[in-house]
Amino acid sequence: MPDFAGGLQGEMSGDSGLGEMMRGDMAKSFTVLGIESSCDDTAAGLVRGGVGAAVLLSNCVSSQYELHGDFGGVVPELAARAHVEKLDLITQEALDTACVGLADIDAIAATAGPGLIGGVLSGLTFAKGLALATGKPLVAINHLAGHALTPRLTDGISYPYLMLLVSGGHCQFLIVHAHDRFERLGGTIDDAPGEAFDKIARLLSLGYPGGPALERAAKGGDAARFALPRPLLDREGCDMSFSGLKTAARRARDGIVEDNRIKVSDRRDLCASFQAAIVDVLIEKSRRAIDLFQHKTGASGGAFAVAGGVAANAAIGAGLRALCDDAGLQFLAPPLSLCTDNGAMIAYAGLEMFAHGTQHDLRVSARPRWPLDQTAAAMLGSGKKGAKA
Ligand code: KG4
Ligand code: ZN
Repeated sequence: MPDFAGGLQGEMSGDSGLGEMMRGDMAKSFTVLGIESSCDDTAAGLVRGGVGAAVLLSNCVSSQYELHGDFGGVVPELAARAHVEKLDLITQEALDTACVGLADIDAIAATAGPGLIGGVLSGLTFAKGLALATGKPLVAINHLAGHALTPRLTDGISYPYLMLLVSGGHCQFLIVHAHDRFERLGGTIDDAPGEAFDKIARLLSLGYPGGPALERAAKGGDAARFALPRPLLDREGCDMSFSGLKTAARRARDGIVEDNRIKVSDRRDLCASFQAAIVDVLIEKSRRAIDLFQHKTGASGGAFAVAGGVAANAAIGAGLRALCDDAGLQFLAPPLSLCTDNGAMIAYAGLEMFAHGTQHDLRVSARPRWPLDQTAAAMLGSGKKGAKA
């Protein structure tokens, strides 16, 4: 059994007896539909091709930003209902855009966790229904594996590579050894950076999602004006913490409120100071993750890829790129549509798993928590997607 699928009920194959079939299938081309519904995006996408050499046929997303905007964060029950309403429509749109019929598909991949359980259940149950009706194989995918394998879809890079997953629900460094083998080097012990961006943006009345709004509001601000902490830089390794930074930013905000109002220039400086603190932490911890990666794999160069919504931040992207240039690593940042939650990444992860002989039956269950690295100690943090994997 692959480590990756550890404990996943309903696994039908992947044993060594399938070796011949798997070797043959590795060279084959597959068309795979992917379905994603673990948070606030209902998404479907299609990819076609072989392992490490696939093309994107479609990538359709229906975002729930407006639905959750007034609440400043995702409301799980509203999210699940909206997924149920949109899953069939977005899947049809993905098929139409790709000019592919259900009969042309080799496998149906769906996120089975980790995430908000109502949303995951909606998408997985929809995929099971589709598999049952069409007789097509089902592949249950770890959402984080979808993000982590994206550079294989966009750039065809080979294993192993270093990955930083940084979003509203996750923050972790991984060595991606294979489609089913991930080694976690470190991660957040409390909040994810996207969560911190969203929280501070909300306190500053910048709207939801907060990350892009805060980045805009920070333009031209004085990043040195507020002395915000850089948590855990004094601790070895690449674990991170963002909750203390959030608290410090809230205190700084309380200090600039006058008559219930904040001056635009004060807000700009606070946003710039907050963003700079996150950039400093991510860059320093990435530097250490690169050292660890090179030490463990024996690589002198290698590739460093980012994924997740926070990777869209220009200051973070520029800092990571400069770091990789200095260290002689190839830096890969997938386009935003493949960085944030999407169906194509689930389709691609499904393609690699299916080509290796993995598929699931209807007993496979949705999992709110599902660490990619089953051997690493559980992280303490708990964000909007539940406990960090
Ligand atoms: O990957 P994603 O779409 O969903 C999750 O899995 O969470 O990431 C969404 C997160 C949100 O917290 C959002 O505020 C943050 O990514 N984000 C950003 C930026 N764009 C999105 N954070 C900082 N700067 C940005 N430009
Ligand atoms: Zn995600």
